[in-house]
Amino acid sequence: MGVHVDHYELAGRVVVVTGASSGIGWETARSFAARGARLALVARREERLRALSAEIEAATGRAAHVFPTDLSVRGAASAVADEIARALGDVDVLVNNAGSAVGGAIWAVADHDEARSHFEVDFWSPLALIGAFVPGMRRRGHGAVVNVTSLRVVLTWPAFGHSSAACAALSQATETLRLELLRFGVRVVEVIPGPIDTPAQGPTKLIPGFVEAVHGRLGIAQPADLADLIVRAVTVGEDRVFCPEGSTRAAFENPVALRNQVEADVRRVLADGSGLPDELLDTMVVGADDPMISDAREQWEREHSPSAQ
Ligand SMILES: NC(=O)c1ccc[n+]([C@@H]2O[C@H](COP(=O)([O-])OP(=O)(O)OC[C@H]3O[C@@H](n4cnc5c(N)ncnc54)[C@H](OP(=O)(O)O)[C@@H]3O)[C@@H](O)[C@H]2O)c1
Repeated sequence: MGVHVDHYELAGRVVVVTGASSGIGWETARSFAARGARLALVARREERLRALSAEIEAATGRAAHVFPTDLSVRGAASAVADEIARALGDVDVLVNNAGSAVGGAIWAVADHDEARSHFEVDFWSPLALIGAFVPGMRRRGHGAVVNVTSLRVVLTWPAFGHSSAACAALSQATETLRLELLRFGVRVVEVIPGPIDTPAQGPTKLIPGFVEAVHGRLGIAQPADLADLIVRAVTVGEDRVFCPEGSTRAAFENPVALRNQVEADVRRVLADGSGLPDELLDTMVVGADDPMISDAREQWEREHSPSAQ
């Protein structure tokens, strides 16, 4: 169960990677390209997509196609799917990796625009791309959908609830899709990362107590390691990818124990409340475009630039 024995050859396949301008998406696109795939790169920052395309061209002799898109805009995912199909034809592998963010107490973030944008990027856009590309894969009898969720499908933390909810929603859609496609030869892979060393770690450090309590136990992995696991899963037909492998798989497979552990952590680490100032608790909503988030990402990038090593 869970492993298809036949090898899925990647040379010449059309692979779409969202969130390819950074972190896990960047490395995953490089890994697919190294195996001879033709890449379509999607994210907002065009200059980064072009830089990745040039890097891929230098390594493989074939540039990637870039599709600058803001997936937080309703309809943008469907529109870019049409553009990709016009430019590259049938899509063989779809990697839904782009991820946004929103922070704040559940009742403060509620259903505000920042929360809705987050769900647009992390849940509705992946489904729109699945809606665009899976019918063709099903008719042709091959292909793969890779959805990057998170250990957050079973792990949450104060101020992190919407992020966990969006991942959990995509996770259940992924599981259902796999069952629906069992008869049709289309692979469905759920990628369940624990902590991965990408710019997303900048804002993660802003969540009171989280890194101290959780990262110590799980460890942290490099995005290139995860990218190789993703490519392997598509090639050999594994249903789930965990990274860091041992700690994240164990946590995912024991969700009740994990939740008990997290509650104990929250009681210990945030002994005097939620970790957020009381006067902000009812109103603080930190959306993806908040300067607090972009500053934290930029600081991570400065600290990890080759000149800072
Ligand atoms: N790093 C971790 O510890 C970790 C753990 C669990 C799960 N994950 C998941 O892994 C995925 C990749 O994260 P990462 O760690 O590689 O983070 P990252 O380096 O911050 O990359 C996020 C990617 O998503 C793209 N993106 C964000 N908002 C977008 C939008 N509105 N439209 C289009 N693209 C958008 C970004 O590109 P632009 O800014 O150029 O648009 C970027 O390429 C996410 O789904 C994340 O939830 C990460």
